[in-house]
Amino acid sequence: MTTLDIVVLLVELALIAFLVVRNAHTFRGVALRGLAAVATVAVITFLDTCYDCVITGSRLATIGKDVATWAVEIYAVSFAAFAAFRLPARQRYLARPPIVMAAEPATIAEVAQDGVLLEVDNLTMRFGGLRAVDSLSFVARRGDITAVIGPNGAGKTTVFNCITGFYKPTSGKLSLYHTDGTRFALELMPGHRIAAVAKAARTFQNIRLFAGMTVLENLLVAQHNGLMRHTGLGIGAVLGVSGYPRAEGAAIERARAWLDRVGLIARADDPAGALPYGAQRRLEIARAMCTEPVLLCLDEPAAGLNPRESEELNRLLLDIRKRGCSILLIEHDMGVVMRISDHIVVLDHGKKIADGTPAEVRADPTVIAAYLGEGEEDEAA
Ligand SMILES: Nc1ncnc2c1ncn2[C@@H]1O[C@H](COP(=O)(O)OP(=O)(O)OP(=O)(O)O)[C@@H](O)[C@H]1O
Ligand SMILES: [Mg+2]
Repeated sequence: MTTLDIVVLLVELALIAFLVVRNAHTFRGVALRGLAAVATVAVITFLDTCYDCVITGSRLATIGKDVATWAVEIYAVSFAAFAAFRLPARQRYLARPPIVMAAEPATIAEVAQDGVLLEVDNLTMRFGGLRAVDSLSFVARRGDITAVIGPNGAGKTTVFNCITGFYKPTSGKLSLYHTDGTRFALELMPGHRIAAVAKAARTFQNIRLFAGMTVLENLLVAQHNGLMRHTGLGIGAVLGVSGYPRAEGAAIERARAWLDRVGLIARADDPAGALPYGAQRRLEIARAMCTEPVLLCLDEPAAGLNPRESEELNRLLLDIRKRGCSILLIEHDMGVVMRISDHIVVLDHGKKIADGTPAEVRADPTVIAAYLGEGEEDEAA
């Protein structure tokens, strides 16, 4: 092998390792992606060797050895790259108590026991010159319904987008605590891991369902992460072996249970796009709940609902809280907010202007001036 050959080989290996490791988050992920890379290299090696056979009359015998050598090299370089670069990044957001406790004034376990579920600390989100969220700090407690209210453009949806990973905040910390003391630094986590690992789920201000899929299928898609673990590389799922049928059965049962709770079981096989507006809103909530979140973020769930549907929504949200899932609620309907919230945070122009119980917030002159107005204050009471 000449020096040039070695350089070319190293560049090739680095490129392959980059592709394998780029979006992987676990050793298992690297192993599966490595398999795909080795299969691709095997096909290329086979075609290359066939070409050599035709041109030079050599034999195919060396293919196995070549592919095995490539496999060893690809896996060695990929695992080394994963351990050196990706794993430390992952550890930063999955910091367990012993790592974080040393730097924190109160231990994580104490914070978790104290009932803090979400801690928003000095959150700022800038879009060019606009500060949509400006040095916002508040705490949402475990088992509470915490409402975030404020006039249009106050920055409420932007806060949700930061918490659920749709936006990366300009600055600030977002900590989600599980009861076992694990702290998730949401501002550092990739968006899809926030729902899957940190267990924070959301609904959208403008409904985002898969309109062409059935109601039940929408709920199964939400459980994709859990189902994928049991597919046996896809082959098990196709052949009906591995744990897939059992996992699929459990996913369908969970979906049916939530459809029952939101009153949509009779529409399970209808296209989601054919449901009335209020039912689509309930389906979005059921879809989020199928991911078994510890924090459910609802962006204006009562928008467009009639009074009877609003009342049903209140009951549904109280039922969800009773089942141990805390709720962060953006809502303009003060009937819903004042009746079911335990704690309210009021935003105006990206800043917090009030924070307290419904009674405190309703009586706060700043909130009345900026948002509620005199008439609505009476109405909300
Ligand atoms: N992706 C973005 N790019 C630029 N500006 C944005 C972006 N997202 C939000 N904004 C701006 O940030 C500000 C806050 O918007 P946001 O949607 O968070 O308000 P909101 O409180 O949810 O309002 P509403 O009650 O009307 O839903 C607005 O001025 C909005 O135009
Ligand atoms: Mg909004």
